[in-house]
Amino acid sequence: MTVLRLSKVSYAYDDDSNALDEIDLSVAGGECVAVIGPNGAGKSTLLRVMAGLLAPTAGTVEMMGKKLDRKKTAAGGNIGILFQDPDDQLFMPSVREDVAFGPLNQGLGTEEAGKRVTEALRLVGLPNFGERVPHHLSYGEKKRVAIAGILAMRPKILLLDEPTANLDPRGRAELMGLIGKLGCTVVMATHDMETAAAMADRVCVLNRKVLATGEKREILTNRKLLESNGLEMPTVARLFAEMDADGEMPLTVGEAAGWMAKRNEGLDRKEK
Ligand SMILES: Nc1ncnc2c1ncn2[C@@H]1O[C@H](COP(=O)(O)OP(=O)(O)OP(=O)(O)O)[C@@H](O)[C@H]1O
Ligand SMILES: [Mg+2]
Repeated sequence: MTVLRLSKVSYAYDDDSNALDEIDLSVAGGECVAVIGPNGAGKSTLLRVMAGLLAPTAGTVEMMGKKLDRKKTAAGGNIGILFQDPDDQLFMPSVREDVAFGPLNQGLGTEEAGKRVTEALRLVGLPNFGERVPHHLSYGEKKRVAIAGILAMRPKILLLDEPTANLDPRGRAELMGLIGKLGCTVVMATHDMETAAAMADRVCVLNRKVLATGEKREILTNRKLLESNGLEMPTVARLFAEMDADGEMPLTVGEAAGWMAKRNEGLDRKEK
């Protein structure tokens, strides 16, 4: 079932030509779509339009079959958006208050909101950060707190703008594991091809227009398309392309290990 549908969506900032130009994109319930594109491609703009924070200059955004109602969406908490810069997201004097802001705004009582805060901070690996001042945290810690604030609202659709940027490798792996486990619909904007390879079901290449949308392997192994848009294939795929490897191109270290094991099995059989 389609949960988000953009039809011919364009968006222009006051001083700019179209940052988004006639975007058609549908997202099905439970799927993870990675939107990739170079700097200035319109990825962040697209997520803000999807969240109803920016009204399209032309075209329509539908959520669950209904045209997006900006006020209702914000209040209903169906969509949670993680901004690219956590400083745009955090504004309360303590981490606890920041994470509680969304649930309280959704109308939950202080006790229930408190439970959500404790759970969300645990999920992002910051169980003891409740009394800290958001403004004093490291960039990666801020990002985790911003993610906790969204998780605490339990949105149906997560819009994540560069979610893994500036996270350390463990933080990145934990976040990817967490998002995978949540099982909700995710649209993420990212430059991080490894994250797209590991997380996405489908990938959309954006450069003001949608240049291609498809199953992740089809897009992430299309070197020409990626390179002509300032992107590159995931590291593992680049290595296997360089080796001119046969069969399905692995995108991640895990898939590469699978490819090797299969090849070794084949070699063993030949030797026998
Ligand atoms: N508030 C604004 N006012 C005017 N122009 C803007 C504004 N925000 C973004 N733009 C312009 O719109 C275009 C798309 O910007 P956007 O931030 O959506 O790109 P992006 O793909 O997210 O880039 P990045 O990879 O750097 O995060 C850019 O040309 C940018 O300069
Ligand atoms: Mg951006």
